[in-house]
Amino acid sequence: MKLTVQEEEMLRGHRGKAAQRAMELLVALGEVFYAQNMIEVSSVQISGVSYKSIGDAGLDFLEDFAGLGGKVQVPSTVNPAGMDLDRWQEFGVSKEFADKQLRIARAFDQMSVQQTYTCVPYLIGNEPKLGEHVAWAESSAVVYANSVLGARTNRESGPSALAAAFAGRTPNYGMHLVENRMPNVLVETSATLKDPLHYGLLGYLVGKRHGKSVPYFRTRESLGREELQSLCAALASSGMISLFHMDGITPEAASFRELLNSVERLYVTQSDLEAMQSELSDVESDVDLYAFGCPHLGIAEVAHIAHRLKNNRLTKRLWIFTSRETHQRAEEKGYVKTISQAGGKVFRDTCVVVSPLEELGIRTIASNSCKAAHYLPSISGIKVRLGTMDELIEEAIR
Ligand code: F3S
Repeated sequence: MKLTVQEEEMLRGHRGKAAQRAMELLVALGEVFYAQNMIEVSSVQISGVSYKSIGDAGLDFLEDFAGLGGKVQVPSTVNPAGMDLDRWQEFGVSKEFADKQLRIARAFDQMSVQQTYTCVPYLIGNEPKLGEHVAWAESSAVVYANSVLGARTNRESGPSALAAAFAGRTPNYGMHLVENRMPNVLVETSATLKDPLHYGLLGYLVGKRHGKSVPYFRTRESLGREELQSLCAALASSGMISLFHMDGITPEAASFRELLNSVERLYVTQSDLEAMQSELSDVESDVDLYAFGCPHLGIAEVAHIAHRLKNNRLTKRLWIFTSRETHQRAEEKGYVKTISQAGGKVFRDTCVVVSPLEELGIRTIASNSCKAAHYLPSISGIKVRLGTMDELIEEAIR
């Protein structure tokens, strides 16, 4: 790879041990992918934050990195942890788990990583612009950044994102290059797409059938942020998709429209989506928990849930997951109180997938998230039933 003087200095250790270790990792990565050079990034989103996901080996890696004494060079945010960092006792994790999770938090703090603990950094101020290069590791946020915002990022791992944070750059390959951002499958559908769940099912199906593609969606429906988030998370769960285009919605779609005559086509019907929902739902009866917030909820969704629960009493356990910022806004607006009065709980910093819910005795979950339905059975042995948010809230009240 061709390195600048500054990058050579980092590699030789003239800018500290942390920058050197970061550069070594990035150069090795760049060589694997035949990158010609490094490219500067404006922000980093780090995954591999939950003690459940990274275990003792990951904790040692982070403490070791923090012990090198460096600080991150660009604004860097982190994915959800394995528990609500303040209300972990109420959340129910063991003291041993909490101690290790808090050590991970201290390591990030030492490295000057922002303590955000959310998978939606773009909702809390880390929102890159069209054409901006970033190094993000959270897969759902990677798809959102590339597609909805038009920023450029590969799907980083926890260590490669951390290295990018210390070096302020990443190898220039993959989604950073325009030739890799062209669509290669056109998706058309006659299915009814009225809810974030429907977009999740569509994304899951496309990821499953064309898992390494750049899909171009042509739909007749208009959609908002929640639907886009659901689509992004699902595309990245069943496949390795990092970018999609959508007619009239995503910023780069128009520039690739003339290529569509020459790409493969996928037609999705209503029954395809219904079959997908059945395939992802492996429990029919009562569930232990109704859970929303995968990806983390924004303030509009928390408000919606509060509105539905106002003057109602839940008969089932219902938890929602969001970021610290959204939680604070929801508290100020009285939504947290309304949800608590109905018997629900609003947790922050964590989510259903990266927290050890199975150790809390939870075996079955109802959710509107295809990503949760994809990962929970294999990671936690938890069975999932999918439904729309409104259907499930109604059920949890009844
Ligand atoms: Fe976010 Fe956890 Fe889902 S990190 S996308 S809420 S699995």
